[in-house]
Amino acid sequence: MVFDYIDGAAGEELTARRNRAAFQHVLLKPEVLVDVSTRSSRTRLFGQDVAMPLVIGPTGLNGAAWGHGDLCIARVAARANIPFVMSTAATVGMREMDAAAGRLRWFQLYMLKDRGLATEFLKQIASYRFDVLQLTVDTAVGGRRNRDIRNGFTLPFRWTMANLVDAARHARWALQMARHGVPTLKVFADLLGGAAQGSTISDVMQQQISASFSWSDIQWLREQWDGKLVLKGLTTPTHARLAREVGADGAVVSNHGGRQLDGAGSTIEMLPAFRESAHDMTVLIDSGFRTGVDIAKAIALGADGVQLGRATLYGLAAKGEPGVARALEILGHEFDLAIALCGARTVEEMRGRYTISESRHLSEL
Ligand SMILES: Cc1cc2nc3c(=O)[nH]c(=O)nc-3n(C[C@H](O)[C@H](O)[C@H](O)COP(=O)(O)O)c2cc1C
Repeated sequence: MVFDYIDGAAGEELTARRNRAAFQHVLLKPEVLVDVSTRSSRTRLFGQDVAMPLVIGPTGLNGAAWGHGDLCIARVAARANIPFVMSTAATVGMREMDAAAGRLRWFQLYMLKDRGLATEFLKQIASYRFDVLQLTVDTAVGGRRNRDIRNGFTLPFRWTMANLVDAARHARWALQMARHGVPTLKVFADLLGGAAQGSTISDVMQQQISASFSWSDIQWLREQWDGKLVLKGLTTPTHARLAREVGADGAVVSNHGGRQLDGAGSTIEMLPAFRESAHDMTVLIDSGFRTGVDIAKAIALGADGVQLGRATLYGLAAKGEPGVARALEILGHEFDLAIALCGARTVEEMRGRYTISESRHLSEL
């Protein structure tokens, strides 16, 4: 059930599959006889030096994959010198995260229905020195994730016969849960003063998240938050223009890994037009990134950086902290090789080193 929670997506999972398939139509341009003996993957995001154009994006309920999963990811990100975005749906509190997090502290916000509580929340986030805030905007309503419904993946866990058999067949995982306790939405619980419960994870979120928050309300958020403000879940050129108009510093081109609107296009196919409308706004992208070559393609198409969702979660679920580190190591190595073979010595030199497959134009995908 935990694998399905991570791996699954909304509806028929068409968008999740398209996120992967679309990469086939972006081709990198190899370059030869260029001196690439000295090169670097370093770049800057929101004025911060980072080791690679890579961010570990926000994912909720990380404690279900590994005991204190959020802390494992935060420690690896700190050592690798890349940002980690703590989720509003984290299974550890901000105080615990404070001890594990490094210099690059980003936070993902789900806009709460209660503005008073939201203001209080923003103050707490700032007090823990998170300086980049990603407001997730593609979750006005929760996606229908059939695998979670089928598995009875609920909060708190319901010990159905099928789930007991599942746990018994995964003894290491069951032991972890026994040691660390069944994960709860700790950030929510701290804020609301009680455990958040519901029939599925998306139901829990729905009870608290505002479905009415709209473009005109972003001004309010802008006034409450002094740090960098990023809108996560934008896809179209109009979104990019509106984001600039409301004073956002950046955007994450994202379809939530196909977990929200099944039937939406892939993000990599949306990127060129989005980049053009975004002008000097920082543009990050996620959804479907699994290899360093995927990352190189996004950089070639103009993204400033790539956010990871499942790629690092698979590592976390397989082996905890070393698993996350190994996932990053593989991605970093693949990215370095890809840019070198494209004749690029820096992230900047990688720009434009792509062609779109002749058989399918990206916009016709
Ligand atoms: C298990 C899981 C939990 C997620 N939880 C959150 C969340 O709490 N907040 C959020 O903004 N996005 C969340 N996302 C979406 C990711 O931030 C990201 O947009 C998505 O995973 C990217 O697609 P990928 O997994 O194919 O890389 C979650 C994704 C997964 C797989």
